[in-house]
Amino acid sequence: RYCEIFERLEELILDHMAHHDNGIREMSRLSQLCPTVGNFFTQLPLREAFLVQNAKRSIAGRRQVPPSFNDVRWILNTAQVNAIAPTLQLITFDGDMTLYSDGASFAQDSHLLQVLLSLLRNDVTVAIVTAAGYGTDGPKYEARLSGLLDAFRGGECGLSKEQLARFYVFGGECNYLFQYDPSTRHLRYIVPEMYETPAVASWSRNQPRIQWLLDAAQSCIEEVTREAGLVGRVQIIRKERAVGLVPAAAVQLTREQLDEYALSVQQRVRNAQHAAATSRRSQTDLFSPTDGVEGSTPLLPFCAFNGGTDVWVDVGSKMIAVELLQRFLGAKPAATLHVGDQFLSTGNDFATRAACTTVWITSPEETGEVLNELIPQLEQNRPGNTE
Ligand code: IMP
Ligand code: MG
Repeated sequence: RYCEIFERLEELILDHMAHHDNGIREMSRLSQLCPTVGNFFTQLPLREAFLVQNAKRSIAGRRQVPPSFNDVRWILNTAQVNAIAPTLQLITFDGDMTLYSDGASFAQDSHLLQVLLSLLRNDVTVAIVTAAGYGTDGPKYEARLSGLLDAFRGGECGLSKEQLARFYVFGGECNYLFQYDPSTRHLRYIVPEMYETPAVASWSRNQPRIQWLLDAAQSCIEEVTREAGLVGRVQIIRKERAVGLVPAAAVQLTREQLDEYALSVQQRVRNAQHAAATSRRSQTDLFSPTDGVEGSTPLLPFCAFNGGTDVWVDVGSKMIAVELLQRFLGAKPAATLHVGDQFLSTGNDFATRAACTTVWITSPEETGEVLNELIPQLEQNRPGNTE
């Protein structure tokens, strides 16, 4: 019965993709059943994925416990990995909780080291797309990735210079791009002029607008702090392109408190931007059209999210990072996979769903499991493998 259900779902997804291609996505049966459903960049072999996960998780054999959220998450992950393996060109990873635990660094003995090297060995471009932003200070990013970069530097990794140069880091969501340079053995900062689109450049160079947005976010954070009775128990960190809320020493905020901050900032800053953009007075200065199109005032994209123990508001988003990388590297959405842990509406990986296929993991261990499903398929598909 489960197999029949998953076959039916596969048909619904195919039908939805066809409607999307014809520009009438909202008319599909799947849109009617689930109005918030987005776009699918690949088909999903769900029946086959169910059989794989059923063998591990005893889904059909259970009598008391129905299929859970995690069962479904795993079935979708396996289906997505199987669907993208033949075409995968670019894989992007979140940092915290995906490659290492919160705030930690990539250790030399990480179980993910060999699998990341395997991805590069199979000529896949690997990019870390993280909210953690240290401006253009390459050594700071290098310090967090030291275990991986040390392996690149050691001769035993067996990767060619071309393969090593397929490693990128996007910090501050989409604000600071670096590429590994095998000749200097360091991360090299890439200036935005090399990869920015005119649409992105129209806001990313508008410093007064960025300051306005961060000021609005900061005052919202201060307001929520008062409303939630947290004055004195939290502190605010202001960066060039971000504002963060971190608990004071020995204070732990609950998930609900952190979500309240993230959702409040999302709503209030969005409203404040709309109000400012439509008010006559501000159109004459800060919010005047910047793209030369009369009457249009592009709103500045931002990402307010619950980071697990803290809350951050960053200028830009991971969707923009993935789109910029795709354009820079010539990779299509159906050849791109993002792996992350924050796919709720208060998370910062959520935004990538509009730009590429995704896999939702909850720990670095799960990242390893997913990659161990993917890599044998990449090896099989490699040119020259005749097995
Ligand atoms: P990610 O999971 O790799 O996207 O990293 C998110 C975490 O990075 C946040 O929860 C913060 O603890 C940390 N972080 C450090 N600097 C920044 C910043 O400038 N913006 C957002 N998050 C930051
Ligand atoms: Mg994360």
